[in-house]
Amino acid sequence: MLPWFNNTRPLYLAPMAGVTDSVFRRLCKEQGADVLVTEFVSADGILHRNQHTTEMLSFRAEERPVGVQLFGADPQRMADAAKAVLDWVEPDFIDLNFGCPVNKVVCKHGGSALLKDCPLLERVALAVVKAVEPFPVTAKIRLGWSQETINATMTATILEQTGIRAIAVHGRTKEQGYSGVADWQTIARVAQAISIPVIGNGDLRSVEEILLRLRSTKVRGVMVGRAAMTSPWLFRQVKRFLETGEIVPDPSVEERWSHMLRHCRMAVAESDSGKHAMAAMRGRLMAYSKGMPGGRTLRGELQQVSSVAQVEAISERHLAWMNSEYAITGMCFVPSEEPWRISSRDESAARI
Ligand SMILES: Cc1cc2nc3c(=O)[nH]c(=O)nc-3n(C[C@H](O)[C@H](O)[C@H](O)COP(=O)(O)O)c2cc1C
Repeated sequence: MLPWFNNTRPLYLAPMAGVTDSVFRRLCKEQGADVLVTEFVSADGILHRNQHTTEMLSFRAEERPVGVQLFGADPQRMADAAKAVLDWVEPDFIDLNFGCPVNKVVCKHGGSALLKDCPLLERVALAVVKAVEPFPVTAKIRLGWSQETINATMTATILEQTGIRAIAVHGRTKEQGYSGVADWQTIARVAQAISIPVIGNGDLRSVEEILLRLRSTKVRGVMVGRAAMTSPWLFRQVKRFLETGEIVPDPSVEERWSHMLRHCRMAVAESDSGKHAMAAMRGRLMAYSKGMPGGRTLRGELQQVSSVAQVEAISERHLAWMNSEYAITGMCFVPSEEPWRISSRDESAARI
Protein backbone atom coordinates (compact mmCIF):
# COMPACT_ATOMS: atom_id res chain seq x y z
CA MET A 1 0.00 0.00 0.00
CA LEU A 2 1.32 3.46 -0.82
CA PRO A 3 2.19 5.09 2.53
CA TRP A 4 -0.11 8.07 2.04
CA PHE A 5 -3.14 5.77 2.13
CA ASN A 6 -2.17 4.37 5.57
CA ASN A 7 -4.96 5.16 8.01
CA THR A 8 -6.11 8.17 6.04
CA ARG A 9 -7.97 9.14 2.92
CA PRO A 10 -5.65 11.59 1.20
CA LEU A 11 -6.65 14.77 -0.56
CA TYR A 12 -4.92 15.00 -3.94
CA LEU A 13 -4.39 18.19 -5.90
CA ALA A 14 -5.32 17.27 -9.49
CA PRO A 15 -2.61 17.70 -12.10
CA MET A 16 -3.52 20.72 -14.26
CA ALA A 17 -1.33 21.79 -17.16
CA GLY A 18 -0.48 25.48 -16.93
CA VAL A 19 -1.79 25.65 -13.35
CA THR A 20 -0.19 23.19 -10.95
CA ASP A 21 3.36 24.45 -11.08
CA SER A 22 5.63 24.16 -8.05
CA VAL A 23 4.49 27.47 -6.52
CA PHE A 24 0.81 26.57 -6.72
CA ARG A 25 1.45 23.05 -5.50
CA ARG A 26 3.26 24.39 -2.43
CA LEU A 27 0.45 26.85 -1.72
CA CYS A 28 -2.06 23.98 -1.88
CA LYS A 29 0.16 21.83 0.31
CA GLU A 30 0.23 24.59 2.93
CA GLN A 31 -3.55 24.58 2.76
CA GLY A 32 -3.74 20.86 3.45
CA ALA A 33 -3.39 18.98 0.15
CA ASP A 34 -1.74 15.64 0.94
CA VAL A 35 -0.52 14.43 -2.45
CA LEU A 36 0.63 16.51 -5.41
CA VAL A 37 1.21 15.63 -9.05
CA THR A 38 3.12 17.65 -11.65
CA GLU A 39 1.50 18.91 -14.82
CA PHE A 40 1.69 16.18 -17.45
CA VAL A 41 4.98 15.82 -19.29
CA SER A 42 5.50 13.95 -22.55
CA ALA A 43 7.82 10.97 -22.65
CA ASP A 44 9.55 12.60 -25.61
CA GLY A 45 10.07 15.84 -23.66
CA ILE A 46 11.76 13.83 -20.90
CA LEU A 47 13.99 11.99 -23.30
CA HIS A 48 15.05 15.24 -24.99
CA ARG A 49 15.52 16.97 -21.63
CA ASN A 50 14.40 20.33 -22.92
CA GLN A 51 14.25 23.44 -20.73
CA HIS A 52 10.45 23.50 -20.45
CA THR A 53 10.40 19.89 -19.26
CA THR A 54 13.11 20.62 -16.69
CA GLU A 55 10.93 23.41 -15.25
CA MET A 56 7.85 21.21 -15.17
CA LEU A 57 9.68 18.42 -13.35
CA SER A 58 11.20 20.54 -10.63
CA PHE A 59 9.72 20.35 -7.16
CA ARG A 60 10.84 21.06 -3.61
CA ALA A 61 11.25 18.66 -0.73
CA GLU A 62 8.22 20.10 1.07
CA GLU A 63 5.99 19.00 -1.83
CA ARG A 64 6.46 15.32 -1.07
CA PRO A 65 4.78 13.00 -1.67
CA VAL A 66 4.79 14.22 -5.25
CA GLY A 67 4.30 12.31 -8.49
CA VAL A 68 5.48 13.08 -12.01
CA GLN A 69 2.76 12.55 -14.59
CA LEU A 70 3.82 11.15 -17.96
CA PHE A 71 1.92 10.81 -21.19
CA GLY A 72 2.73 8.96 -24.38
CA ALA A 73 1.67 5.88 -26.28
CA ASP A 74 4.94 4.14 -27.06
CA PRO A 75 5.57 1.51 -24.36
CA GLN A 76 9.36 1.52 -24.74
CA ARG A 77 9.67 5.31 -24.76
CA MET A 78 7.35 5.60 -21.78
CA ALA A 79 9.45 3.04 -19.90
CA ASP A 80 12.69 4.87 -20.78
CA ALA A 81 11.17 8.20 -19.79
CA ALA A 82 10.00 6.80 -16.44
CA LYS A 83 13.50 5.47 -15.69
CA ALA A 84 15.02 8.81 -16.68
CA VAL A 85 12.61 10.66 -14.37
CA LEU A 86 13.65 8.49 -11.42
CA ASP A 87 17.33 9.24 -11.99
CA TRP A 88 16.66 12.87 -12.69
CA VAL A 89 14.29 14.13 -9.97
CA GLU A 90 13.48 11.16 -7.70
CA PRO A 91 9.74 11.72 -7.26
CA ASP A 92 7.63 9.59 -4.90
CA PHE A 93 5.70 7.98 -7.74
CA ILE A 94 5.16 8.06 -11.48
CA ASP A 95 1.62 8.73 -12.69
CA LEU A 96 0.44 7.71 -16.16
CA ASN A 97 -2.02 9.95 -17.97
CA PHE A 98 -4.80 8.00 -19.69
CA GLY A 99 -7.33 10.82 -19.56
CA CYS A 100 -6.15 13.86 -21.48
CA PRO A 101 -8.81 14.79 -24.08
CA VAL A 102 -6.71 17.39 -25.95
CA ASN A 103 -6.46 16.70 -29.70
CA LYS A 104 -2.72 17.29 -29.86
CA VAL A 105 -2.25 14.39 -27.40
CA VAL A 106 -5.09 12.14 -28.57
CA CYS A 107 -4.08 12.28 -32.25
CA LYS A 108 -0.76 10.65 -31.27
CA HIS A 109 -2.73 7.91 -29.43
CA GLY A 110 -1.81 9.37 -26.02
CA GLY A 111 -3.99 10.37 -23.06
CA SER A 112 -7.61 9.28 -23.36
CA ALA A 113 -7.02 7.72 -26.82
CA LEU A 114 -5.63 4.73 -24.93
CA LEU A 115 -9.06 4.16 -23.36
CA LYS A 116 -10.12 3.04 -26.86
CA ASP A 117 -7.15 0.73 -27.22
CA CYS A 118 -6.95 -1.36 -24.06
CA PRO A 119 -4.24 -3.74 -25.37
CA LEU A 120 -1.95 -0.75 -25.97
CA LEU A 121 -2.90 0.82 -22.63
CA GLU A 122 -1.94 -2.46 -20.96
CA ARG A 123 1.40 -2.59 -22.78
CA VAL A 124 2.23 1.00 -21.84
CA ALA A 125 1.36 0.44 -18.17
CA LEU A 126 3.19 -2.89 -18.01
CA ALA A 127 6.31 -1.52 -19.70
CA VAL A 128 6.53 1.35 -17.20
CA VAL A 129 5.76 -0.79 -14.14
CA LYS A 130 8.41 -3.36 -15.14
CA ALA A 131 11.00 -0.71 -16.02
CA VAL A 132 10.91 0.94 -12.59
CA GLU A 133 9.87 -1.95 -10.32
CA PRO A 134 9.44 -1.81 -7.29
CA PHE A 135 9.01 1.96 -7.59
CA PRO A 136 5.29 2.85 -7.47
CA VAL A 137 3.39 3.72 -10.64
CA THR A 138 -0.17 5.07 -10.54
CA ALA A 139 -2.60 6.04 -13.31
CA LYS A 140 -5.32 8.57 -14.04
CA ILE A 141 -8.20 7.62 -16.30
CA ARG A 142 -11.57 8.91 -17.49
CA LEU A 143 -14.76 6.85 -17.62
CA GLY A 144 -14.15 5.95 -21.24
CA TRP A 145 -14.00 7.52 -24.66
CA SER A 146 -17.72 8.24 -25.04
CA GLN A 147 -21.01 7.67 -23.25
CA GLU A 148 -21.58 4.61 -25.45
CA THR A 149 -18.18 3.09 -24.66
CA ILE A 150 -17.77 3.61 -20.91
CA ASN A 151 -15.19 1.06 -19.80
CA ALA A 152 -13.63 2.47 -16.64
CA THR A 153 -14.10 -0.73 -14.61
CA MET A 154 -12.45 -2.81 -17.32
CA THR A 155 -9.61 -0.32 -17.78
CA ALA A 156 -9.05 -0.12 -14.03
CA THR A 157 -9.01 -3.92 -13.75
CA ILE A 158 -6.43 -4.19 -16.52
CA LEU A 159 -4.29 -1.53 -14.87
CA GLU A 160 -4.50 -3.23 -11.49
CA GLN A 161 -3.28 -6.47 -13.11
CA THR A 162 -0.26 -4.71 -14.62
CA GLY A 163 0.90 -3.67 -11.14
CA ILE A 164 -0.44 -0.11 -11.08
CA ARG A 165 -0.74 0.87 -7.38
CA ALA A 166 -3.59 3.41 -7.36
CA ILE A 167 -5.97 4.87 -9.94
CA ALA A 168 -7.54 8.32 -10.09
CA VAL A 169 -10.84 8.26 -11.97
CA HIS A 170 -12.20 11.48 -13.46
CA GLY A 171 -15.94 10.93 -13.81
CA ARG A 172 -16.29 12.15 -17.38
CA THR A 173 -15.72 10.67 -20.81
CA LYS A 174 -13.22 12.00 -23.32
CA GLU A 175 -16.06 13.29 -25.45
CA GLN A 176 -17.45 15.31 -22.54
CA GLY A 177 -14.19 17.19 -22.11
CA TYR A 178 -14.96 19.31 -19.06
CA SER A 179 -18.69 19.76 -19.75
CA GLY A 180 -21.63 18.01 -18.15
CA VAL A 181 -21.54 16.57 -14.68
CA ALA A 182 -19.06 14.06 -13.26
CA ASP A 183 -20.67 10.62 -12.94
CA TRP A 184 -19.89 9.48 -9.42
CA GLN A 185 -21.96 6.30 -9.74
CA THR A 186 -19.48 4.92 -12.23
CA ILE A 187 -16.56 6.09 -10.07
CA ALA A 188 -18.19 4.22 -7.16
CA ARG A 189 -18.51 1.06 -9.28
CA VAL A 190 -14.81 1.19 -10.16
CA ALA A 191 -13.88 1.66 -6.49
CA GLN A 192 -16.03 -1.34 -5.63
CA ALA A 193 -14.54 -3.52 -8.36
CA ILE A 194 -10.80 -3.29 -7.73
CA SER A 195 -8.57 -3.79 -4.69
CA ILE A 196 -6.04 -1.01 -5.19
CA PRO A 197 -7.01 2.50 -4.02
CA VAL A 198 -9.30 4.52 -6.28
CA ILE A 199 -9.13 8.29 -6.02
CA GLY A 200 -12.38 9.94 -7.08
CA ASN A 201 -12.22 13.08 -9.16
CA GLY A 202 -14.71 15.46 -10.73
CA ASP A 203 -16.74 18.48 -9.62
CA LEU A 204 -15.66 18.43 -5.97
CA ARG A 205 -16.21 22.05 -4.94
CA SER A 206 -17.22 22.04 -1.28
CA VAL A 207 -16.60 20.31 2.03
CA GLU A 208 -20.10 18.82 1.82
CA GLU A 209 -19.55 17.31 -1.64
CA ILE A 210 -16.22 15.82 -0.62
CA LEU A 211 -17.64 14.32 2.57
CA LEU A 212 -20.61 12.92 0.66
CA ARG A 213 -18.33 11.17 -1.85
CA LEU A 214 -15.98 9.85 0.83
CA ARG A 215 -18.90 8.49 2.85
CA SER A 216 -21.06 7.10 0.08
CA THR A 217 -18.43 5.38 -2.07
CA LYS A 218 -15.39 3.19 -1.51
CA VAL A 219 -12.96 5.72 -2.93
CA ARG A 220 -9.78 5.78 -0.85
CA GLY A 221 -9.05 9.42 -1.60
CA VAL A 222 -10.36 12.40 -3.53
CA MET A 223 -8.73 14.67 -6.08
CA VAL A 224 -9.64 18.35 -6.41
CA GLY A 225 -8.91 20.27 -9.60
CA ARG A 226 -10.62 23.48 -10.65
CA ALA A 227 -12.06 24.27 -7.21
CA ALA A 228 -8.49 24.51 -5.89
CA MET A 229 -7.86 27.35 -8.35
CA THR A 230 -10.64 29.42 -6.75
CA SER A 231 -10.52 28.10 -3.19
CA PRO A 232 -7.27 26.33 -2.28
CA TRP A 233 -8.38 26.61 1.38
CA LEU A 234 -10.93 23.88 0.57
CA PHE A 235 -8.22 21.33 1.46
CA ARG A 236 -7.80 22.90 4.91
CA GLN A 237 -11.55 23.06 5.46
CA VAL A 238 -12.03 19.37 4.59
CA LYS A 239 -9.05 18.28 6.63
CA ARG A 240 -10.10 20.20 9.71
CA PHE A 241 -13.63 18.81 9.46
CA LEU A 242 -12.37 15.25 9.09
CA GLU A 243 -9.96 15.64 12.00
CA THR A 244 -12.04 17.64 14.48
CA GLY A 245 -15.56 18.11 13.09
CA GLU A 246 -14.86 21.84 13.05
CA ILE A 247 -16.25 23.99 10.24
CA VAL A 248 -13.63 26.46 9.04
CA PRO A 249 -15.25 29.53 7.47
CA ASP A 250 -14.15 30.80 4.07
CA PRO A 251 -11.38 33.39 4.29
CA SER A 252 -12.33 37.06 4.37
CA VAL A 253 -11.77 39.21 1.27
CA GLU A 254 -8.65 40.67 2.96
CA GLU A 255 -7.29 37.16 3.49
CA ARG A 256 -8.04 36.26 -0.12
CA TRP A 257 -6.10 39.28 -1.33
CA SER A 258 -3.20 38.45 0.90
CA HIS A 259 -3.15 34.90 -0.54
CA MET A 260 -3.39 36.22 -4.11
CA LEU A 261 -0.57 38.69 -3.55
CA ARG A 262 1.61 36.05 -1.96
CA HIS A 263 1.02 33.79 -4.97
CA CYS A 264 2.04 36.65 -7.30
CA ARG A 265 5.18 37.44 -5.30
CA MET A 266 6.26 33.80 -5.20
CA ALA A 267 5.59 33.36 -8.92
CA VAL A 268 7.66 36.46 -9.78
CA ALA A 269 10.48 35.56 -7.35
CA GLU A 270 10.84 32.10 -8.91
CA SER A 271 10.66 33.18 -12.53
CA ASP A 272 13.36 34.54 -14.86
CA SER A 273 10.86 37.05 -16.16
CA GLY A 274 8.51 38.92 -13.84
CA LYS A 275 6.50 39.99 -16.88
CA HIS A 276 5.92 36.43 -18.05
CA ALA A 277 5.14 35.32 -14.53
CA MET A 278 2.50 38.04 -14.16
CA ALA A 279 1.03 37.31 -17.59
CA ALA A 280 0.60 33.69 -16.45
CA MET A 281 -0.88 34.91 -13.16
CA ARG A 282 -3.77 36.74 -14.88
CA GLY A 283 -5.88 33.64 -15.31
CA ARG A 284 -4.99 32.53 -11.80
CA LEU A 285 -6.08 35.86 -10.32
CA MET A 286 -9.34 35.74 -12.26
CA ALA A 287 -10.04 32.30 -10.81
CA TYR A 288 -9.28 33.51 -7.27
CA SER A 289 -11.61 36.49 -7.72
CA LYS A 290 -14.64 34.31 -8.51
CA GLY A 291 -17.34 35.04 -5.96
CA MET A 292 -15.65 38.17 -4.63
CA PRO A 293 -17.85 41.29 -4.40
CA GLY A 294 -17.49 43.44 -7.50
CA GLY A 295 -16.09 40.41 -9.32
CA ARG A 296 -16.99 41.49 -12.84
CA THR A 297 -15.08 44.77 -12.64
CA LEU A 298 -12.30 43.06 -10.76
CA ARG A 299 -11.80 40.46 -13.46
CA GLY A 300 -11.64 43.19 -16.11
CA GLU A 301 -8.78 44.77 -14.16
CA LEU A 302 -6.95 41.57 -13.31
CA GLN A 303 -6.99 40.49 -16.94
CA GLN A 304 -4.53 43.26 -17.73
CA VAL A 305 -2.03 43.25 -14.87
CA SER A 306 1.66 43.02 -15.61
CA SER A 307 3.24 43.67 -12.20
CA VAL A 308 2.74 42.83 -8.55
CA ALA A 309 2.47 46.57 -7.84
CA GLN A 310 -0.60 46.75 -10.08
CA VAL A 311 -2.25 43.89 -8.21
CA GLU A 312 -1.42 45.60 -4.91
CA ALA A 313 -3.03 48.81 -6.16
CA ILE A 314 -6.14 46.94 -7.33
CA SER A 315 -6.43 45.15 -4.01
CA GLU A 316 -6.12 48.41 -2.06
CA ARG A 317 -8.79 50.11 -4.19
CA HIS A 318 -11.04 47.09 -3.98
CA LEU A 319 -10.78 46.84 -0.19
CA ALA A 320 -11.28 50.60 0.19
CA TRP A 321 -14.35 50.38 -2.04
CA MET A 322 -15.70 47.52 0.00
CA ASN A 323 -15.23 49.44 3.24
CA SER A 324 -16.72 52.67 1.97
CA GLU A 325 -19.25 51.70 -0.65
CA TYR A 326 -20.75 48.64 0.91
CA ALA A 327 -23.39 48.95 3.59
CA ILE A 328 -22.77 46.02 5.88
CA THR A 329 -25.91 44.64 7.42
CA GLY A 330 -24.98 41.74 9.65
CA MET A 331 -23.43 39.12 7.36
CA CYS A 332 -25.09 40.56 4.28
CA PHE A 333 -23.36 42.97 1.89
CA VAL A 334 -25.59 45.41 0.04
CA PRO A 335 -23.56 46.57 -2.94
CA SER A 336 -23.99 49.92 -4.63
CA GLU A 337 -22.32 49.91 -8.03
CA GLU A 338 -18.77 48.86 -8.73
CA PRO A 339 -17.06 52.23 -9.07
CA TRP A 340 -13.82 51.30 -7.36
CA ARG A 341 -12.07 51.02 -10.70
CA ILE A 342 -12.79 54.62 -11.64
CA SER A 343 -9.87 56.99 -11.14
CA SER A 344 -10.09 59.73 -8.50
CA ARG A 345 -10.55 62.38 -11.25
CA ASP A 346 -13.79 60.68 -12.32
CA GLU A 347 -14.86 59.72 -8.86
CA SER A 348 -17.19 62.62 -8.09
CA ALA A 349 -18.99 62.08 -11.42
CA ALA A 350 -19.40 58.40 -10.64
CA ARG A 351 -20.98 59.14 -7.31
CA ILE A 352 -23.73 61.39 -8.72
C1 LIG B 1 -6.55 23.68 -16.99
C2 LIG B 1 -6.58 22.18 -16.77
C3 LIG B 1 -5.47 21.42 -17.04
C4 LIG B 1 -5.48 20.05 -16.82
N1 LIG B 1 -4.34 19.33 -17.04
C5 LIG B 1 -4.30 18.01 -16.71
C6 LIG B 1 -3.09 17.26 -16.77
O1 LIG B 1 -2.01 17.78 -17.10
N2 LIG B 1 -3.15 15.94 -16.44
C7 LIG B 1 -4.31 15.33 -16.05
O2 LIG B 1 -4.31 14.13 -15.75
N3 LIG B 1 -5.46 16.02 -15.97
C8 LIG B 1 -5.49 17.33 -16.27
N4 LIG B 1 -6.64 18.05 -16.11
C9 LIG B 1 -7.84 17.39 -15.55
C10 LIG B 1 -7.88 17.54 -14.03
O3 LIG B 1 -6.80 16.86 -13.43
C11 LIG B 1 -9.21 16.97 -13.45
O4 LIG B 1 -9.27 15.61 -13.79
C12 LIG B 1 -10.43 17.68 -14.00
O5 LIG B 1 -10.27 19.08 -13.98
C13 LIG B 1 -11.69 17.28 -13.21
O6 LIG B 1 -11.56 17.64 -11.86
P1 LIG B 1 -12.27 18.97 -11.25
O7 LIG B 1 -13.75 18.86 -11.59
O8 LIG B 1 -12.00 18.90 -9.78
O9 LIG B 1 -11.66 20.15 -11.92
C14 LIG B 1 -6.66 19.42 -16.35
C15 LIG B 1 -7.79 20.19 -16.09
C16 LIG B 1 -7.76 21.56 -16.27
C17 LIG B 1 -9.00 22.37 -15.96
